[in-house]
Amino acid sequence: MERNNGKNGDAPVIAIDSVTKTYQMGEVAVHALRGVSLAIHSGEYVAIIGASGSGKSTLMNIIGLLDRPTSGTYAIRGQEVGQLGKSAQADIRNREIGFVFQRFNLLPRTSAQAQVELPLFYAGITGPKARRRAVDALTRVGLGERIDHRPDQLSGGQQQRVAIARALVTQPSLLLADEPTGALDSKTTAEILDLFDELHAQGLTLVVVTHEHSVAERAGRVITVSDGAIVGDALAARPAPTGTAANGFAGAPPALSPTGTAVAR
Ligand SMILES: Nc1ncnc2c1ncn2[C@@H]1O[C@H](COP(=O)(O)OP(=O)(O)OP(=O)(O)O)[C@@H](O)[C@H]1O
Ligand SMILES: [Mg+2]
Repeated sequence: MERNNGKNGDAPVIAIDSVTKTYQMGEVAVHALRGVSLAIHSGEYVAIIGASGSGKSTLMNIIGLLDRPTSGTYAIRGQEVGQLGKSAQADIRNREIGFVFQRFNLLPRTSAQAQVELPLFYAGITGPKARRRAVDALTRVGLGERIDHRPDQLSGGQQQRVAIARALVTQPSLLLADEPTGALDSKTTAEILDLFDELHAQGLTLVVVTHEHSVAERAGRVITVSDGAIVGDALAARPAPTGTAANGFAGAPPALSPTGTAVAR
């Protein structure tokens, strides 16, 4: 696939070392991340689970270059990026990373096609080429027939597909999704998860934050965050396609291969 973005081919896509994030709220320091180390390699499909407030979104925002660590290092494909300036980070984000959010974050009164073209504009791609790529991305997520629809003319699942097309149109090597199915019903969730499976099969690296075991079960690797630290990191046997959700991930790590490593503090 054409997603060799240069750099060190063997380096992990994501290498995070001893990352902390502290929010200062007046007198009170909130330790959202307390020293997280993590490597994610090309082609992995990783779920991040953990209780509300455990630091999942904080970690995702750092991985997605939407926020920066208080301390520690972050490298993408061997290049240190955690402390780069805002515009250098924006360049890398635009080139390497697609981000999908729980609430879709689409622009109102804007057609699917225009939403998906927007990141191309920031990458300096405009005109017919941008239009073609937007339509291709929308077709890839199954919305080739809906390119002129605005968000209020689309279902929740379709809106999330537009958001996924928008995340993919720049051909990132990494797709980050923070609770992407949190606002969707179970049928629509299943459709989005099928789409993620396809994207993963096409070589995309995926990191998905979720509360839902049915979502985590699709990933090959499940990282558990608790109180700002990684307390479980395990390779999961993929479930049978029919998906018996009962043998879920709650509490102790699920049936796992011995390569799962716990990174306890
Ligand atoms: N901008 C901020 N300023 C201050 N504290 C913050 C900020 N963002 C997050 N926090 C705090 O950091 C901790 C981790 O928050 P985070 O949003 O990462 O949790 P989460 O695991 O994503 O939770 P949820 O499952 O509810 O989305 C929480 O205690 C939260 O209150
Ligand atoms: Mg969150």
